[in-house]
Amino acid sequence: MTVVPKHRIGVLASGRGSNFESLVTATRNGFIPDAEVGLLVCNRPAAGAVQRAERLGVECLVMEPLPFADEAVYFERIADEFQRRGVTLVCLAGFLLKVHAAMLRRFPGRILNIHPALLPKYGGRGMYGRRVHEAVLRAEEKETGCTVHLIDDEYDHGPTVLQAVVPVRPGDTPETLAARVSEKEHVLYPEAVKRVLLGLSGKSEGAGK
Ligand code: GRF
Repeated sequence: MTVVPKHRIGVLASGRGSNFESLVTATRNGFIPDAEVGLLVCNRPAAGAVQRAERLGVECLVMEPLPFADEAVYFERIADEFQRRGVTLVCLAGFLLKVHAAMLRRFPGRILNIHPALLPKYGGRGMYGRRVHEAVLRAEEKETGCTVHLIDDEYDHGPTVLQAVVPVRPGDTPETLAARVSEKEHVLYPEAVKRVLLGLSGKSEGAGK
């Protein structure tokens, strides 16, 4: 008999996909109980995340925005693909497009993002990848970190679920700092997802579903 996990997670990625993989691993090794990653949607065919999905045996759809009439239509279609597969929680994992309100409405309070800094510091439009770590080093911060939050209609904004601090070490470059933050992200994101899913289970049981 096949046991169907209670929670299906959908992931949106544009790049390397290491956080996507950390979520897949955490569902498969039981760290995130009763859940599976059911679909990866990637907006860039060349993204490393696409190869990872293939290696991991996770269904992946490459959906570039260009052929769609507008952003709302594009994000409605993405939401359709997730809902068709029973996804109830969406995780942005290095997804560089702003999620349109059309999709926020379809997953209210159920879209998470991970950001490589201690939000609200070093977030917002244009603050991604190397630029974040460059800004942290320029400001001579002693510590940085990563944040998992629920998204709203502003870049890198919405209620924080979890944050973790990462030290900035003397002689750090954007690359060394990025690597230290990335390692921490792979622990923080699964932990945050686990907590959110526990909260959602509690709510649905409370509602008698
Ligand atoms: C991570 O640093 C994440 O915080 C940010 O984009 C990066 C994605 O890395 N949103 P990866 O593609 O998961 O390796």
